[in-house]
Amino acid sequence: MDSLREIEESKSLRNLGYDIFYLRKTFSTMDFAKEALEFGKYFRAIIVAEEQVRGRGRKGRKWFSPKGGLWVTIVTPIPKDKLELVSIIAGLAVILSLRELYGLNVQLKWPNDIVYLGFKLGGVLVENIIYGNEIVSLIGIGINCNNSSLDLGIGGTISLREILGRSISRKKVLEKVVINLERLLRKYSTPEIVETYKKHCFSLGKKVKVKLNEEIIEGFVCDITNKGGLVIRTSRKDRIIIDHGDVLEHEGVKYKLS
Ligand code: BTN
Repeated sequence: MDSLREIEESKSLRNLGYDIFYLRKTFSTMDFAKEALEFGKYFRAIIVAEEQVRGRGRKGRKWFSPKGGLWVTIVTPIPKDKLELVSIIAGLAVILSLRELYGLNVQLKWPNDIVYLGFKLGGVLVENIIYGNEIVSLIGIGINCNNSSLDLGIGGTISLREILGRSISRKKVLEKVVINLERLLRKYSTPEIVETYKKHCFSLGKKVKVKLNEEIIEGFVCDITNKGGLVIRTSRKDRIIIDHGDVLEHEGVKYKLS
């Protein structure tokens, strides 16, 4: 197994002002991050665990987090103009990093599932906390790295080791992700972020079925708005914008959506 513990000594992350917490086992790095923020006021921190026993996914789902994966929460202040786009930015930081490191065609299924050929490789969960004038984001990232997707007990998932046929360095992946995250948060404009997202969006052009309030909408994804919303063209040729609905069916996806 690669040595994730070495992340504690990472010069590039320390130079960016991050405190680093390496944990062998925790309930969830999200919960640990919240406590660290409350008790120690760590506004810039990286919490990484070898294993989570109560990992959380989006929409209250359970997130299986066995040894070998990269399970991390990055705590960072967010510029106000980027607040609506944080989860898209985090997803982009991951896929750009995996593309740069391994030349893989990794994409984002709206809003921020990390997919490879329709298989789920990872995901992003963002929780924001307001402190006076500051907004601090807890950016939870899970990437199947050196673990076997079979250990997850969910069909349609995949790991980097399975794609590449070898183990990878989670330290390298994490360093790259944080560097890209900083770049996207502090140097990119909103239009640049949305343009980059569109380039790597698995959902564009695909047929989807979405539940919005109590209505089911079916159509093709034809665009992404400046706030990261999905634009769907229905068979009646209406254009409908979805900011938060549940995607029930998505063409090309190999895992179960719920
Ligand atoms: C998703 O549902 O796709 C998002 C999954 C996010 C999982 C990561 S793993 C590290 C962090 N800690 C958690 O409990 N969840 C996030």
